[in-house]
Amino acid sequence: MIVVTGGAGFIGSNFVLDWCAGTDEPVVNLDKLTYAGNLANLAALEGDARHEFVRGDIGDFELVRTLLRTHRPRAVLNFAAESHVDRSIHGPGDFIQTNIVGTFQLLEAVREYWGMLEGEDKAAFRFLHVSTDEVYGSLEADDPAFRETDRYAPNSPYSASKAASDHLVRAYCHTYGLPVLTTNCSNNYGPYHFPEKLIPLCIHNALAGKPLPIYGDGRQVRDWLYVKDHCAAIRRVLEAGRVGEVYNVGGWNEKANLDVVHTLCAILDALRPRADGRSYREQIAFVTDRPGHDRRYAIDAGKLERELGWKPAETFETGIEKTVRWYLDHQDWVQGVTSGAYRDWTLRQYGA
Ligand code: NAD
Ligand code: DAU
Repeated sequence: MIVVTGGAGFIGSNFVLDWCAGTDEPVVNLDKLTYAGNLANLAALEGDARHEFVRGDIGDFELVRTLLRTHRPRAVLNFAAESHVDRSIHGPGDFIQTNIVGTFQLLEAVREYWGMLEGEDKAAFRFLHVSTDEVYGSLEADDPAFRETDRYAPNSPYSASKAASDHLVRAYCHTYGLPVLTTNCSNNYGPYHFPEKLIPLCIHNALAGKPLPIYGDGRQVRDWLYVKDHCAAIRRVLEAGRVGEVYNVGGWNEKANLDVVHTLCAILDALRPRADGRSYREQIAFVTDRPGHDRRYAIDAGKLERELGWKPAETFETGIEKTVRWYLDHQDWVQGVTSGAYRDWTLRQYGA
């Protein structure tokens, strides 16, 4: 079996759902259920014996130690993190705690567990760390896309905390021989994306008749990847990645934010026209820029393609249409998140 951390969040829950759709190998899902963790994402697995949910913190060494000894996984995949750049600017503390200290405690527990394994089990074990392209910093318009050998230059408290976690993972391989794999992925989008991030926020605000906030001039560029392609890349790296290696994951889909929002508006105009017949574009509002806003990210995913044969299945056009349709079909999920109803349920179920 495998252990996934952060499997109630956006990417982690997509990963768990896809994992269970593709294999009978059980998965234990360790998640603290912060504001970003939502068990409703995993409703399809209710009563499925292959999925066990454990509420807890990756920074809780004793809990993770017991979990590993009890379940004896062949791999631990670390998705758990504080992930929102704007929140890291307002309050970096949680990012330092989870992304750095939490990853350190998790690595310590995994190192101890791996040290107790023998023979085949020890040789086959993997720790896969899910990270971000933001650790490489910001690109100028003509710079080549990020490669695995690029120097780290994180610019926000979020990306600095992820960079620190990547360094710890690397050090545990180099110093202790822990068999690690690291993936650095570009911006994801798709089902269960928390509506604080650009794409789900704009879909939600458009339908609610609210402004679509564009930071600065809206010409910042991100490289978008459909979340299920990211999950497929992680499965492939887990299956065949070389120990100690880093793999960049991206969709070759560089888009300026304003163009992304125009695309969303065009799809919504076609699928769910406004009652007054006007375009959702009229709701676009330029607002104060994010402090230290990175101008451009772009991922060179050539290594992953050459070495492991991974390629994204979706183009931006197919993925974004699927995504808008998913949000239109799952307004109850959006309602649950935006009204905070899932938090009430979590409190009732798990207490404070
Ligand atoms: P998310 O914020 O949607 O989910 C994070 C999950 O981790 C939540 O379920 C939360 O409850 C859980 N969590 C937070 N702190 C925890 C702790 N201390 N212990 C246990 N669980 C904890 O994030 P996401 O967008 O799904 O990102 C998942 C991972 O992928 C993160 O490591 C992020 O840095 C990385 N990543 C994200 C993107 C993206 O575009 N969203 C792109 C590349 C990499
Ligand atoms: O690149 C990978 C990263 O992508 C992940 O590591 C992060 O966890 C994930 O949150 C994401 O970070 P971004 O900051 O790029 O995503 P976000 O959706 O917050 O913003 C995307 C772009 O849109 C960014 O340039 C900021 C801009 N933006 C965002 C919001 C929320 C706006 O213009 N208006 C907004 O209201």
